Amino acid sequence: MTNTMNNPVRVPVALGGRSYDIMVGHGLLANAAALIAPHLRSPRTVLIADAAVAKLYGEPLRASLLSHGMACELIIVPSGEATKSFNAFETLLNTILALGIDRKTTLIALGGGVVGDVVGFAASVLLRGIDFIQIPTTLLAQVDSSVGGKTAINSVHGKNLVGSFYQPRLVLADLATLDSLPPRERAAGYGEVLKYGLIMNAEFYQWCLRHGADIVALQPEYTQRAVAASCSMKADIVARDEQENDVRAWLNFGHTFAHALEAETGFGSALLHGEAVAIGMRMACRLSHQLGYIGAQVEEQLKQHLQAVGLPADVSMLPGLTVERLMPHFARDKKSENGALNFVVLQAVGQAVVQKNIAPEFIAQLLQTMLEESYG
Ligand code: NAD
Ligand code: GLY
Repeated sequence: MTNTMNNPVRVPVALGGRSYDIMVGHGLLANAAALIAPHLRSPRTVLIADAAVAKLYGEPLRASLLSHGMACELIIVPSGEATKSFNAFETLLNTILALGIDRKTTLIALGGGVVGDVVGFAASVLLRGIDFIQIPTTLLAQVDSSVGGKTAINSVHGKNLVGSFYQPRLVLADLATLDSLPPRERAAGYGEVLKYGLIMNAEFYQWCLRHGADIVALQPEYTQRAVAASCSMKADIVARDEQENDVRAWLNFGHTFAHALEAETGFGSALLHGEAVAIGMRMACRLSHQLGYIGAQVEEQLKQHLQAVGLPADVSMLPGLTVERLMPHFARDKKSENGALNFVVLQAVGQAVVQKNIAPEFIAQLLQTMLEESYG
């Protein structure tokens, strides 16, 4: 990772012939054409953005690409998770194909995790695979979803069940785009930043505890360090285990609980993904403590920090959750094997491990206690 005061940070993702850079800096969009050009196989690009992001950044980016001699069509998809449905995906594929693309065309995903996931998946299947570039505009997408090549759409059987591992050619994380992001979305993205510290870097976690509020408030130097460090840690994991056979599972810390909460609340605005992850990480800290690994103070410290940065630390704002409703989601988790429950837990702050064969009754009891604490 290189850094200078006035230049973007460059974070390499080392994957042999499929290696790429993540650029993290303020105002990258203004220079996007020059940054993108060296990565194109032909000047033909298709820019895809959701409606909200297109309105803010779509036309200026397209105009910049055109003025640098590239061809660029802009496709606008609806904002929100429904864009990851089969129907919406088919519409997107046909809209792109109707433009008469060829194998050297590059797709550019401009937006949050929804656009990044769906455009990445489209790139992986169109003409049996064409290039794509990620320009993430949410904090969550900048620190997580745009990096590492997981692409997906949703099925009636669950979220992200249809997808591919398919790496982008370049990721441009322009921190200035976060200025227009609602505070709640910023806090949600910060949940994933904290995760990296908890699973693999205790020093970074302590820094987050001191500067979380600065990061969520988008203080430039803190946001840049948080995004670049998060990308660097994710790049390290992805380089070691691209297809999640081993250490990449750590990235799911708190997510098994989170997915159950999201499934029960409809994967919508009642509970954003990063908010669910925040609550899930607290539950995973309790589990790690009950397994005899970390002290109870780790969970208490996390709870206080989540509250201080505007993230939920319990399910009190989600009435009606029960153990009976939550438990079946764990059996459907991608990490479960032959009915046994596997969870990512902390052996220490900064040291994650996958704990296998946890008795469902153990999890049910933990949930019962935490639901009672939440609902008083
Ligand atoms: P999102 O893409 O829906 O964006 C959230 C909202 O913010 C949308 O309404 C969007 O229009 C708006 N928005 C985006 N950028 C903006 C900006 N700069 N200013 C103003 N508004 C802006 O949600 P998300 O939280 O970015 O991503 C969630 C998705 O990411 C989920 O589908 C999840 O499954 C996926 N995900 C994927 C991975 C992965 O590894 N591929 C990891 C985590 C999450
Ligand atoms: N977001 C989890 C992963 O990329 O593996």
